[in-house]
Amino acid sequence: MAQQQVTVTEHLLWHQIKSPAATGVFTQLLYDLILSAKLISRSVSKAGLLDVLGETGEVNVQGENVQKLDDYADKILIHRMERSGALCLMASEEHADLIRIDPSFTRGDYMLIFDPLDGSSNIDVNVNVGTIFSIHRRADHSGREASLEDILQEGYRQVGAGYFLYGPSCMMVYSTGQGVHGFTLDPSVGEFLLSHPDMQIPRQGNIYSANDGNYTLWDDKARLASDYFKSDRNRTGKPYTLRYVGSLVADFHRTLLYGGVFMYPAVRKPDGRFEGKLRLMCEASPLAFLAEQAGGRATDGQRRILELKPYSLHQRAPLFIGSANDVDDVMQFMS
Ligand code: AHG
Ligand code: MN
Ligand code: MN
Repeated sequence: MAQQQVTVTEHLLWHQIKSPAATGVFTQLLYDLILSAKLISRSVSKAGLLDVLGETGEVNVQGENVQKLDDYADKILIHRMERSGALCLMASEEHADLIRIDPSFTRGDYMLIFDPLDGSSNIDVNVNVGTIFSIHRRADHSGREASLEDILQEGYRQVGAGYFLYGPSCMMVYSTGQGVHGFTLDPSVGEFLLSHPDMQIPRQGNIYSANDGNYTLWDDKARLASDYFKSDRNRTGKPYTLRYVGSLVADFHRTLLYGGVFMYPAVRKPDGRFEGKLRLMCEASPLAFLAEQAGGRATDGQRRILELKPYSLHQRAPLFIGSANDVDDVMQFMS
């Protein structure tokens, strides 16, 4: 008899018994995220045959050229999620301002922040891309309209976070604070089925993941950390293997499974300022939530990512994330 497959809903219901915070409304929220991901995955898998490759010609709030698939994924998520009945606010990497939920829709207490398509530079060359999501719950129940101050919460206050990875198989990895669990889409039945229960990041890795092309733009501390992993001075006594996909979701997923360290240090801008590239609220914070739930660490080089109180929706942060030992070693150089 084939092993009985566990669906996301069954897995969530089982966890609901353990975490009352996750209500039926939360299950509906996750289900609408899953439907969105199935629709995005369908387009990603046929991108070369559809008119979704290349750029839209627009530039987004990040100052980046918008890829057609960025735009498509963004529209799918907004359309689906505003109808989930679970949300009072949304924020997308592709939109400068908050996305309010029209009063004509049933609304709820949850707030969703997402990167609709992560790894945009890899879309046209058929390399893994993904969707990252972060779920907060509104603390204010006064009945006033939800606003920016409701959503600018520290990462430790997330009630859920995860990502979809559109690759050789389509996977969903998420946590509601009860460990990290991975599901694989079975296209023949259209269901995400449990394939990686209770994922744990190895305490020690031997893979180093960074865009070394930026080496001369890093500060001295980041360079020392980089040199350490690529020398025989690290804990393994030999240089780490370098793996860098350029899609954060893919680099993180490998780190979650194999261990090691992913780092995107601040880079020096033309005006001499150092600035991170990755977005705190829709990239670093949800992945930091997963990393810590899986026994790993995530820091901006000074503090835990999950402790950072956002001051703006699209603020960026340096990110060092992965195996506990490896991120601890990074901190030896950064602090
Ligand atoms: P996005 O496609 O959502 O803009 O994210 C791209 C990010 C992230 O996926 C990846 O880790 C990083 O950009 C790669 O940056 P570099 O090309 O500078 O290495
Ligand atoms: Mn991204
Ligand atoms: Mn993106």
